[in-house]
Amino acid sequence: MTIDLTHLTLEQKASLLSGRDFGSTKPIEDAGIRSVRLNDGPHGVRFQEAGSDHLGIHGSVPSTCFPPAVAVGSSWDPELAAAVGAAVAREAASFGVDIVLGPGVNIKRSPLCGRNFEYYSEDAQLSGALGTAFVAALQEEGPGASVKHFAANNQETERMRVSADVDERTLREIYLPAFERVVKEAKPATVMCSYNRINGVPASHNAWLLIDVLRGDWGYEGVVISDWGAVSDRVAGVRAGMDLEMPGSNGVTDAEIVDAVRGGLLDEELVDRSAARIIALAERPVPDAAPIPVDEHHQLARDVAAGSIVLLKNNGALPLTERITVAVIGEFAYTPRYQGGGSSHINPTRLDVPLDELRALADGRGVLVTEARGFSLDPAQTAAEAARLRTEAVEAAAAADVAIVFAGLSEAEESEGFDRTTLELPSTQVDLIRAVAAASAKTVVVLANGGVVTMDEWHDDVDAIVEGFLLGQAAGGAIADVLFGVVNPSGHLAETIPVRLEDNPSWLNFPGEQGHVRYGEGVLVGYRYYTSSRTPVRYPFGHGLSYTTFATSALQVEQTGVDSARVTVDVANTGGVAGKHVVQVYVSTAAGPVRRPERELRAFAKVELQPGETTTVSLDLDRRAFAYWDVELHDWVVAAGEHRVQVCSDANTVLAEQALALPGDAVVRELTMESTVGDWFSHPVVGPALIAGMTEAMTPEQARQAEANPDGLRMVESMPMQQFLAFTNGAIPAEALVQFMELSKNPAPAAAW
Ligand code: BGC
Repeated sequence: MTIDLTHLTLEQKASLLSGRDFGSTKPIEDAGIRSVRLNDGPHGVRFQEAGSDHLGIHGSVPSTCFPPAVAVGSSWDPELAAAVGAAVAREAASFGVDIVLGPGVNIKRSPLCGRNFEYYSEDAQLSGALGTAFVAALQEEGPGASVKHFAANNQETERMRVSADVDERTLREIYLPAFERVVKEAKPATVMCSYNRINGVPASHNAWLLIDVLRGDWGYEGVVISDWGAVSDRVAGVRAGMDLEMPGSNGVTDAEIVDAVRGGLLDEELVDRSAARIIALAERPVPDAAPIPVDEHHQLARDVAAGSIVLLKNNGALPLTERITVAVIGEFAYTPRYQGGGSSHINPTRLDVPLDELRALADGRGVLVTEARGFSLDPAQTAAEAARLRTEAVEAAAAADVAIVFAGLSEAEESEGFDRTTLELPSTQVDLIRAVAAASAKTVVVLANGGVVTMDEWHDDVDAIVEGFLLGQAAGGAIADVLFGVVNPSGHLAETIPVRLEDNPSWLNFPGEQGHVRYGEGVLVGYRYYTSSRTPVRYPFGHGLSYTTFATSALQVEQTGVDSARVTVDVANTGGVAGKHVVQVYVSTAAGPVRRPERELRAFAKVELQPGETTTVSLDLDRRAFAYWDVELHDWVVAAGEHRVQVCSDANTVLAEQALALPGDAVVRELTMESTVGDWFSHPVVGPALIAGMTEAMTPEQARQAEANPDGLRMVESMPMQQFLAFTNGAIPAEALVQFMELSKNPAPAAAW
């Protein structure tokens, strides 16, 4: 980046480093530096003409409310994520917005997180692929993205000050890779740091996170911005490369920066670097503005929503057939729940009402639609009123061939800013579902919820469950499409639905206490834990049904390098209707010195097949698909040993597998007196020399004893060398140890001492 800053004063440069107001940077008109407009995001454009805020309080100008990330995550379809990214970019451009604040690629650590609706998945492979597709397509249209919230922002409770205490391997393997992929592959114009602390240090001045990892390891060259109001120490932030403070501080922190430079506490070069990055942002071309194609984008929102719906259960109740009576029940059929609360809240251009959309499709099919509200969302509703609504619904259900209950959570129950405390549906809805199921011939439940809900009390009573999550403004039409089979459902769970909240691995450590949340489950997040601990779940990660059936065959796994492979598999549509299938490839291994999850998603692809059609799908697994993060080497390591490549229909169900024997990385660890006897003996160079030396030095009696007791070494294997020597009266000469320790740093074949 060659940006000439010599014509700017220190004050001017510092002024660039914080916002002018809620959503824009400061211009320096004399120097030709324009203001950059930043706007939420991410599943639509929250453009506010007056009264800006980041809590969803004030209204905004209408824009298309596309399905939020929770839905797009369930699509397992990067093409849909890209279509949303491109459309949001066009709408952003129409408002003169330069930077769209999103996507959020944080991992769903706990199903309670109030903002799970804004995140894609509990798995970084999936989140990373979708986030990358979204950002690349968005930026292709002109505006820039802001991938957020970097990093370890996995809860809303105390989000502005809690310390996420996460070990290094877990950060590298679980919480960082989605950001890493977006940064490396899609090069987002900005990265938004999170509010929280990571291992005690606020993200907004976390040098390890922003310098070592983001810019060092991943080569990021764009602008780091703060989440709104995340800055606690501006000067430390500049030192850590946190370029732009948002929303701004009325000049207070700009003056702090100037004072720090003048006082010799801050290197002016660091101010220059951040200023140059912000100028580069302002030099991006102003996106071309065109009016929002409202109908076209509404149709896109409907297509994406339909491609994201997950059919969880179906005992033949769906798709709806012709010439039947359908009772549509539940307040959400009239007042759809389609997005989450907070900064991402969109004022939609249109809003589909599910009941109307069902009627529209029923008309041509000889289907009679009856209706009942079933429950009220009014918290002041009396028990008598609830009973009356329930009775009315039961009567409608009893008179119909199929009852469809629209259930779910209201916006008041889940939003940015707070976490849920339960996974249960409100009891009035549970009572309603049970009563309807008891009275009707067939019951279908359609769910609208940003975070997963448990189903224990009613799951077995109903015939079909359609999980819509939050589907955006065209939710109603998309649900009607799936219920009538106009669209064959192809969504798969991007997060596990547990049987009970207590089964979730973060349960004992969420949302933390006294300012700290300990990520005690380590890398065993979501399905990684459920599969490893054999804990039963309601529906596993990756689960999703279709109106057709698919067969997977002819798996071939071909090693393409020392630590890479190509997976090839045939997929056939063996049913009667066209449909989409997701090939899910996991890797399972116990190789290496660390506890590996039972299996981990490493690649996936969604394919569309006509009835009877077969296609061959090829997916590449690179080194990272086999690697773990080694905390001794602070690097990725591929362990020597068997790695099973598994094609699964969900995280619990292996359809086919093939093992690879990988040579692994030639890792040679440095030996110290703290290293165990086992480490010394198993060292590839020192070990054989040591054994040879010890054998030579043995008396005949010692040799006889060693032979008689081949397991003798096991007792001392985990003993540090220091202690071993004390116990054995210096069995190994001190000079030999020194020589071996030296050798272990720079190994070459060695003789016995
Ligand atoms: C949220 C961000 C959002 C920002 C601006 C913050 O409170 O955490 O996701 O982009 O406000 O509205």
